[in-house]
Amino acid sequence: MSFNVGGLRREQPFRIRRIGHFGYHTPDLSGTIDFLTSKLGLVLSDVDDFTSRMPELPKEHALGYFLRCGTDHHTIVVGSQMLVDTREPDRKGAVVGQVSWQVGSLQEVVDGVDFLDRSTRIRRVGRDAPGSNWHAYAYDPDGYIHEVFYGMEQIGWDGRSKPATMYGRAFHTCPELPQISEHQEVDDALARDGAGGGYRPGNDVEAAFEVDGILMARPFKLTRLARIALFVADPESSLAFYRDVLGLTVTQRVKIKGHEGIFLRADNEHHTLAIYPSALRDELNCAAAIGFSVATYRQLQDARGFLEEQGVAILDLPAELSPGVRYGFWVQGPDRIAIQIFYGMDCVDRNGDAPSPATLPLPFDSWPETIEHGGPAWFEPPFMGPLA
Ligand SMILES: [Fe+2]
Repeated sequence: MSFNVGGLRREQPFRIRRIGHFGYHTPDLSGTIDFLTSKLGLVLSDVDDFTSRMPELPKEHALGYFLRCGTDHHTIVVGSQMLVDTREPDRKGAVVGQVSWQVGSLQEVVDGVDFLDRSTRIRRVGRDAPGSNWHAYAYDPDGYIHEVFYGMEQIGWDGRSKPATMYGRAFHTCPELPQISEHQEVDDALARDGAGGGYRPGNDVEAAFEVDGILMARPFKLTRLARIALFVADPESSLAFYRDVLGLTVTQRVKIKGHEGIFLRADNEHHTLAIYPSALRDELNCAAAIGFSVATYRQLQDARGFLEEQGVAILDLPAELSPGVRYGFWVQGPDRIAIQIFYGMDCVDRNGDAPSPATLPLPFDSWPETIEHGGPAWFEPPFMGPLA
């Protein structure tokens, strides 16, 4: 079957453009949020309060945190393990909450609902606040939740999220089309409630680092959530879901300690999603892995020094976990999430081929002080807006 997606013939009624955000659960919300903000420099966009919906939970477990690295309202979403265990007993103990993929339009999300419903099990459809993104959530063969979304709230110059008075246009079912524009929503809110933004985090960390001409609290800026790695029970079944249902493309297969990793992309980057067989999960002792890019190679070097000084554990993980990544290192994040920070990712050529054999990240002790940029062979979207 072929769908018309904005005039393009597609095998799916949507076209995934990039990874948007990653969500996970933690038994220690305050420790996890402290790590993500004070160590990695993610910025808090909003805190969702579930106390009225989940009165049986202690207050500190009835909160959801939304963090960002760019202008997207959220890049990482963190919820309490107790909350998911209580609310969804069939997902008890699940660390990964969601993997969320951006498509190009609300039409694509709505058209995707029937398609996903025919192909897999749908979890929910609608539009959430905070974040304002329209979405359809579906389960993959391992029960990981994949969200196809459009229209993520963008945080602007004043660093404030939308006020809660604008949450009235949340939806819990598939929306009728067409919907009013975001501009109209804002006009309506201004006429109704007057001006006034939502949450804006304080800034109590001294800006002690000069980073390429700007005073910042850390010597680096995470610019983009670039890769997600999931452990799966049956890689070929998972592959069928990611390739045939979500429409991702396989770039490469790489052996990792005798297991095979499969690397898929959304655009022309080497990969966005890595699937590793679950046997590798115990060997590596992590629940999932995510990777962020930084703005420059120098920031990557400085990030490593800063995080080591901060007492963050550097992980010695196999280079084969990250084909296509030129320079990077792993840190131990909370909740058995391995977090990679890197600079320089290959892209595929016009035939869709990546370098073969795969490029593997260079060991830290052999990083040169300066490097040549890879030019068109590297995937490097620019960061929009100020670094801090
Ligand atoms: Fe989401």
